[in-house]
Amino acid sequence: MYDPFDPAFQADPYPVYRRLRDEDPVHRHDGAPAYWALSRFADIWDAVRDTATFSSAQGLTFYPDEIGELGLAPTIVMLDPPRHTRLRRLISSGFTPRRVAALEDRLRAFVRDRIAAMERTAADGGTPDLHLDFSSPLPTFVVAHLLGVPEADRHRFGPWVSALTTFQDDGFDARALTSGPGVAAIAEMFGYFSELIPARRADPGDDLISALTAAEADGERLTDWDVLGFVFVMIAGGNDTTGNLISHGVALLDGDHAQRERLAADPSLIPNALLEFLRLEGSVQSLGRTTTRPVVLHGVEIPAGEKVMMLYGSANRDEREFGPEADRLDVTRDIPRHLGFATGPHFCIGSHLAKLQARVAFEELLRAHPRVGVDLDRAERIASPFTRGWRTLPATGMGTGRRR
Ligand code: HEM
Repeated sequence: MYDPFDPAFQADPYPVYRRLRDEDPVHRHDGAPAYWALSRFADIWDAVRDTATFSSAQGLTFYPDEIGELGLAPTIVMLDPPRHTRLRRLISSGFTPRRVAALEDRLRAFVRDRIAAMERTAADGGTPDLHLDFSSPLPTFVVAHLLGVPEADRHRFGPWVSALTTFQDDGFDARALTSGPGVAAIAEMFGYFSELIPARRADPGDDLISALTAAEADGERLTDWDVLGFVFVMIAGGNDTTGNLISHGVALLDGDHAQRERLAADPSLIPNALLEFLRLEGSVQSLGRTTTRPVVLHGVEIPAGEKVMMLYGSANRDEREFGPEADRLDVTRDIPRHLGFATGPHFCIGSHLAKLQARVAFEELLRAHPRVGVDLDRAERIASPFTRGWRTLPATGMGTGRRR
């Protein structure tokens, strides 16, 4: 049975996904709330590219009236064209691949520091936590740096990020944002950036917020709210996802030591391996759309105005797309297309940033500790119907590696 809240499903959703793909590719979920779920690669690929039929404007979960519950104007990820197209063009002109690439040296230094910290923990007889001590702090550091949060304020930034991502880990329920325990932290963050954005507009630096306030396309500019909305989506959508890509990668490699050895011996394979990690264990397992008209798929009619979940995590293991060995890790697999970052107009705008972070993380980690692994018996997963990742993931193999 497909129940995204079931702990057994969350522990291993893949057999259920396979059954859905084979027997019930247009699944009707008769719960409260009721919704539909697509599970085959080709169906999801086509649906998310067809924004006129599958709209993002009613939110991305199966909860009804998500945006009303939030009481906030929709951010980029919850807009349809043409408004989405204009906003995306403006954001892309400030958030460029060049700006991201320029982070590499700072990022590498940070990654080395984190590895050294884990080595100290191991040397003192403790167990470093790969997720908490390594994968998770990395995107928090990068985003704070990119946004130009002054060093003096960085200690405040971490708890804000945790508050925002905990809401996702707990099921993405918008009500948690307005009444949950993280509300105070999120309100503080809101206040902080509400002041920082106009300050940067008045007195720009070389950070991303300044670049976004200056971005211009066809005579249009981003409002302070647009920038604030992007900052929120960037933190909510870019942090845990990236951290979990790194953690999942290490866990997957620990399940196949020959491939771990191969990657450690040939780091040029890392960029391809990252796509394979994302394909097999996607940080984003499912997100929803709402039908704007009735749709018939495989002989089943989905009426207009219904929430339809796109099971990206299932699509990425579809044998129809990836062949009979779709469940197997192959760091050299040819992956012409996948849905780890979605596709179409909402294709992840931060994919280059995520890939840079994960590449540097694996280059440094495998160089220093080619036998790094994880203790799955003592690990704990987040309990989310939409994302897949870790709360804690004790590391192994940190004491026996080659030292730099
Ligand atoms: C491994 C890491 C990441 C994964 C797996 C991921 C995944 C995704 C997915 C699946 C979507 C499409 C959402 C939809 O279907 O509606 C998306 C959109 C988005 N992502 Fe990422 N993401 C990652 C990292 C990042 C980072 C680092 C950022 C930082 C800027 C980011 C910012 C965004 C934004 C702003 C959107 C919305 C784009 C739009 O609506 O046009 N993501 N991401």
